[in-house]
Amino acid sequence: SDTDLLDQIRSAADLGALDQLRVSVLGKSGSITQQLKSLGSMDPETRAAEAPKIHAFREQVTSALADRKSALETAELNRKLATETLDLSLPAPETPSGTVHPVSQVMDELAEIFADLGFAVAEGPEIEDQWHNFTALNMPEFHPARAMQDTFYLERHEGEQEAKVLRTHTSPVQIREMQAKGAPLYVIAPGRVYRSDSDATHTPMFHQVEGLVIDRAIHMGHLKWTLETFLKAFFERDDVVLRMRPSYFPFTEPSAEVDVGYTLVNGKRTIGGSEGFMEVLGSGMVHPKVIANCGLDPDKWQGFAFGCGIDRLAMLKYGMDDLRAFFDGDIRWLKHYGFRA
Ligand code: PHE
Repeated sequence: SDTDLLDQIRSAADLGALDQLRVSVLGKSGSITQQLKSLGSMDPETRAAEAPKIHAFREQVTSALADRKSALETAELNRKLATETLDLSLPAPETPSGTVHPVSQVMDELAEIFADLGFAVAEGPEIEDQWHNFTALNMPEFHPARAMQDTFYLERHEGEQEAKVLRTHTSPVQIREMQAKGAPLYVIAPGRVYRSDSDATHTPMFHQVEGLVIDRAIHMGHLKWTLETFLKAFFERDDVVLRMRPSYFPFTEPSAEVDVGYTLVNGKRTIGGSEGFMEVLGSGMVHPKVIANCGLDPDKWQGFAFGCGIDRLAMLKYGMDDLRAFFDGDIRWLKHYGFRA
């Protein structure tokens, strides 16, 4: 009977049973569907009397189905809430993440400081030919200056005039940039360099940043201002004191070594002031022969260049005292001195 059906709906045990009931009543061959179909073959009077009853009952059934459905769904949700607990106070599993190496950090800082001064960043190969690493830089073969830098030579391959070398400095990038781009030129070139010596303060691989300016009427005042501005920005203090000493490099004339002043704070050298001085870079006016070697007219173009050890800068700024730790790959050291990406 109709009341039985409504009771069955109200007491359906689960969503599956409820749906079976729905199909048996409202489905294609369900009981109410059949009744609605039978309306067509009734005479008008009977139909006028029966139709409202059937429609009314269908309404009742439909809303009973909907009520039961939402009751069952609520019950199911409550069951899940009661049984599937999530303890939000538990520590989350740790996601391992690396840090930015101090050398990479300092290279980024340098690129930013020099970008503000209008310098672009250039790169060159670490496996270099002797012409770029030495000859074009005014260090011809058998020139004693070649012995100044302990060079790693690669095996000479068939078809090669000369053995290649691991670049001993970033200065060959000066040559490559002048050749490729001509003048005027404002670039820095950070990267790895190699020398065959190794002790507490030297590793066979280390990092340098080269600076090169080629333009008209460039003089040493420009060099000094640029270095002062760079070092003050890098060490984030105004009391950075520079000292330039005459020196010799085959590719610059005149040449100057640049020292930066420090103060002892709790026995530690801290940049700023002038209690003592330490060497941080080599520099000078680009030798006219070097400019000519790159196909530029030295009567028209002048410039300055400098080369600076990056690892040393990082140690001074961030307080590490052992260079070798930079390249050991010890995770504890990297976590301690590394930077968040
Ligand atoms: N290339 C030199 C070195 O490695 C540094 C330098 C660069 C000096 C540019 C002068 C000009 O020692």
